[in-house]
Amino acid sequence: MPTVLITGANRGLGLEFAKQYAADGWSVIATCRNPIGVGELGTIEGDIAVYGLDVLDQNSIDRFVSDLDGRAIDVLINNAGVYGPKPVKAADVTMKDWTPVMQTNAMAPLFIARALLPNVEKGARKLIVNISSIMASIEQGSAPSEYIYRSSKTALNMVMACYAQEIAETGVAVVNFHPGWVQTDMGGPNATLTPTESITHLRASIEKLGFDDTGKFLNYDGSPLPW
Ligand SMILES: NC(=O)c1ccc[n+]([C@@H]2O[C@H](COP(=O)([O-])OP(=O)(O)OC[C@H]3O[C@@H](n4cnc5c(N)ncnc54)[C@H](OP(=O)(O)O)[C@@H]3O)[C@@H](O)[C@H]2O)c1
Repeated sequence: MPTVLITGANRGLGLEFAKQYAADGWSVIATCRNPIGVGELGTIEGDIAVYGLDVLDQNSIDRFVSDLDGRAIDVLINNAGVYGPKPVKAADVTMKDWTPVMQTNAMAPLFIARALLPNVEKGARKLIVNISSIMASIEQGSAPSEYIYRSSKTALNMVMACYAQEIAETGVAVVNFHPGWVQTDMGGPNATLTPTESITHLRASIEKLGFDDTGKFLNYDGSPLPW
């Protein structure tokens, strides 16, 4: 069976990805900041291995890549993300608040992707999936005062558009998805989708991806989104 690697797999969408792929018989490499006391993630049955990986820590990334020992990965899912402070006016945006959100949402996915590219090249599916957001869309989004989170996801989309072009010759496709508005700690209880619904759709959309989709920004149902 294919192998999927998920960052931020201890809760929210990452946990649901791990549950569904494991239930489907995939080999799951589930990573999280703190692998001790992972709660529900530790109870998932199937072919699943849990590793510690703080996506903001280059030493952690290096250790993790070394622990994988060249293992092939079919689908790499850059899921870990943070929202940062609630909407603030321009006058209240601070460097201290903005920096870790940009680092986690826009920069770390590239550092993870480039570190694991040799593993993904060995896989049969050759896919790097990034969990972006419709909030990244300059054309469609309509959330004023969301400077920090929105700019981080717009930056993620641009970073991955560049990376898709840079690594095109490897045959690895790089695709960004909006998961929908989902009931997680980040999405809150009023979100329109459950994690089960979002990830069921996302997995079906991921399953249909081919190299022709590299560089795209897609909704969870696989339809294209405006940049
Ligand atoms: N929920 C939505 O409606 C929605 C909509 C659009 C996009 N998204 C995106 O979907 C992704 C998952 O979101 P979610 O709703 O599942 O959020 P969540 O419930 O807040 O979970 C976020 C996950 O990211 C992990 N994480 C954060 N910083 C990390 C780091 N430095 N190293 C490793 N893991 C880290 C968290 O780990 P800890 O437990 O250690 O903090 C947690 O596992 C995010 O990229 C988010 O931006 C979500």
